[in-house]
Amino acid sequence: MKTLVVGASGRVGGAAVELLRERGDSVTALTRSADAPLPADVERYVADLTDISALSQLPFSDATFLVFPSVTADPYAAEIADALAARTGHIVYLSAHGAADADPEGEGIMPSHARVERELKRTGVRRTFLRSSGFAANTLGWAPYVKAGQPIRGIAADARRALIHERDLAAVGVHEMSYVAGDLEQILHLTGPEVMTQREYADALSSILGGDYPFVELSDDDAARELFPDAPPAMVRSILEGQRRMIAEPEPRTDTVAQVLGRPATPYSQWVRDHQGDFTA
Ligand SMILES: NC(=O)c1ccc[n+]([C@@H]2O[C@H](COP(=O)([O-])OP(=O)(O)OC[C@H]3O[C@@H](n4cnc5c(N)ncnc54)[C@H](OP(=O)(O)O)[C@@H]3O)[C@@H](O)[C@H]2O)c1
Repeated sequence: MKTLVVGASGRVGGAAVELLRERGDSVTALTRSADAPLPADVERYVADLTDISALSQLPFSDATFLVFPSVTADPYAAEIADALAARTGHIVYLSAHGAADADPEGEGIMPSHARVERELKRTGVRRTFLRSSGFAANTLGWAPYVKAGQPIRGIAADARRALIHERDLAAVGVHEMSYVAGDLEQILHLTGPEVMTQREYADALSSILGGDYPFVELSDDDAARELFPDAPPAMVRSILEGQRRMIAEPEPRTDTVAQVLGRPATPYSQWVRDHQGDFTA
């Protein structure tokens, strides 16, 4: 197949590129930088996703794995959807659980996902929405504390999450990119295999790395300043609210990864082992 990956220099998109190459696809990666590292056999298409005229020249592909710059590219969502739909047969879009209940006209990450889903649907292109739980990779934000031998500083210690490995998301997306018949729209709810509090994830990380990195809860102001210094205020607000909501309403756990891939979703302990180098100085 001829496939396109948008967000190829990122975590999930990068994993998708690897898996598509492994299965022998002819892969094009859209990257903003001409220097973003890519495997030699991957064709590079240098463009910003918000450059609609550049998108109109994209090589045709059978399927596209789309990681969208949530919030920052929202003003272009409709044009991006139209431009991609004109150049590809199927868009597998990395979305989020909360998209289902979000207002596509609202502000923040979930409304952004709801808007992109709405725009893709409007184009009539074949589409698959990977509605994901939180990423295990979010805990990479804990690495500076771990490297310094300090407690982990974060928000909503008791939020219960079903964190998912980026490789599982990519593997399901890549599997679905071969899907060429049946319903025009597919929605998959993807999660990790366990639901734990953030405090418990920090404890699991400590035990695998062999240290003691307890989770310390920050005030909203400290969290905004320390954890999201460059994020737009709307994005920070929606992250804080979303995290707190998961104390009373934990992220649900699904078996979709296992159903699609025929193997269990990857536990957090394995994610930590895969990323051990990111937590050591
Ligand atoms: N974190 C979570 O818990 C979670 C849960 C559900 C869904 N999501 C969604 O997952 C997505 C992020 O996935 P990720 O963590 O794999 O991303 P990531 O590692 O942060 O990488 C983002 C990618 O998007 C590219 N990019 C950013 N702006 C771009 C632009 N204007 N034009 C072209 N490319 C652009 C980046 O390229 P550069 O190298 O040029 O920057 C990079 O390749 C977001 O849509 C997020 O809302 C996240």
